[in-house]
Amino acid sequence: MSNEERTFIAIKPDGVQRGLINKILGRFEDRGFKLVAIKLVKPTESLLKEHYADLTTKPFFPSLLSYMLSGPVLATVWEGKDVVKQGRAILGATNPLSSAPGTIRGDFAIDMGRNVCHGSDSVESANKEIALWFKKEELVDYKHSMLSWIY
Ligand code: RTP
Repeated sequence: MSNEERTFIAIKPDGVQRGLINKILGRFEDRGFKLVAIKLVKPTESLLKEHYADLTTKPFFPSLLSYMLSGPVLATVWEGKDVVKQGRAILGATNPLSSAPGTIRGDFAIDMGRNVCHGSDSVESANKEIALWFKKEELVDYKHSMLSWIY
């Protein structure tokens, strides 16, 4: 059922260090999505190589890797109707030059190499990323009393 769709949203090291956690999480809460997992992680190189497996041959990969290793990442999982696409819309375009004001990147980022957040780009990659960053028991199953109002 689409209300149970899940996405992986990460606040990258610059977002954590700039104190943007509350603003970013707030946008997902305000929109009505349900938080089902959250943890602060110092990712390993091997986790990041798996996460960005399709980018390892790109010329920017070494700088992406050192950026992502530069501090803790806040890993989160959100649930709700169309949350994968909605999550990407809330984050804004990857390149802050193209991200609209009102999106997270459009409001808080000016550089592609410091773009504050990550969001899964499809349901399939969301499932892979959630399994990569979280253990099954870290995903919390609970009823959201707001759901009957929102959906
Ligand atoms: P993300 O995975 O972080 O949500 O970004 P995305 O899907 O929108 O973009 P993707 O192409 O998967 O790129 C992942 C991250 O790599 C950095 N990047 N730098 N040309 C460059 O310098 C360049 N291209 C990509 C960005 O941090 C991007 O979010």
